[in-house]
Amino acid sequence: MELAKLIKSSQGDLWLSGRNDHKLRQMASELGLPGDQTFEADITDPFQVQAMSEWSGTPDIIINVAGIGIIKPLEQLTYEDFNTTIDVNLKGTFHVLKSYLPGMKAVKQGLIINLPGVLGKVPMAGAAAYAASKYGLNGMLKSVREELKRTNIRITNLYLGGTDTPFWDEIDLNVQRDKFVLAKEAAKSIWFLCQQPVSGVVSEMVLQPFNHQAI
Ligand SMILES: NC(=O)c1ccc[n+]([C@@H]2O[C@H](COP(=O)([O-])OP(=O)(O)OC[C@H]3O[C@@H](n4cnc5c(N)ncnc54)[C@H](OP(=O)(O)O)[C@@H]3O)[C@@H](O)[C@H]2O)c1
Repeated sequence: MELAKLIKSSQGDLWLSGRNDHKLRQMASELGLPGDQTFEADITDPFQVQAMSEWSGTPDIIINVAGIGIIKPLEQLTYEDFNTTIDVNLKGTFHVLKSYLPGMKAVKQGLIINLPGVLGKVPMAGAAAYAASKYGLNGMLKSVREELKRTNIRITNLYLGGTDTPFWDEIDLNVQRDKFVLAKEAAKSIWFLCQQPVSGVVSEMVLQPFNHQAI
């Protein structure tokens, strides 16, 4: 929501997607967006993502924030936990790339901002599923970037450390959320990335809490 507010306040043309139509419509109404600029889609379903790309057309920028966090020691981690995490965090982005890159290639431009997070680069106890998904995401995005080098399509990866968002609401871990990066500050960093000149590419950015600088 913090990011959506920043984009809207700068007159950017904003399109929102997520799994919950009611939540999307509520956000749209708070932001003053027309209801038809929201689209309900589950990123784990390639057909829904393809339908979303047909609805939205080819955007200048995709901010791909969809992700879940299941943080548990291996003995408590179920097969379902592992598969769901990979489905959303890794395969979901594959679906986005497959659906949107052809359009971006046709217009010869585009920016895709992704959030692999610090746990896409460093391990953490309890993060076997999450880090597997985010390390995989990191490898997939860097490989695709190699394929896009001769185009003007930019891939930017933001490696966020602990940030105080609803992501942590269901995670049973003793963390100091009051020491986390604030959601509105993380939103500002994404907004900064959106505004970078097209003659170059910010391939990576890292934003972490002071007390947990893992990279
Ligand atoms: N917060 C942190 O400390 C932190 C640190 C590093 C990286 N990250 C990454 O940053 C990204 C954003 O996280 P956040 O902190 O903003 O968490 P959040 O508030 O829980 O937001 C997660 C977003 O993902 C969407 N989503 C989840 N599953 C989805 C699915 N199957 N299909 C479509 N959308 C789905 C949710 O939308 P709906 O529920 O409406 O579908 C929600 O908008 C995630 O990729 C996360 O891994 C977060």
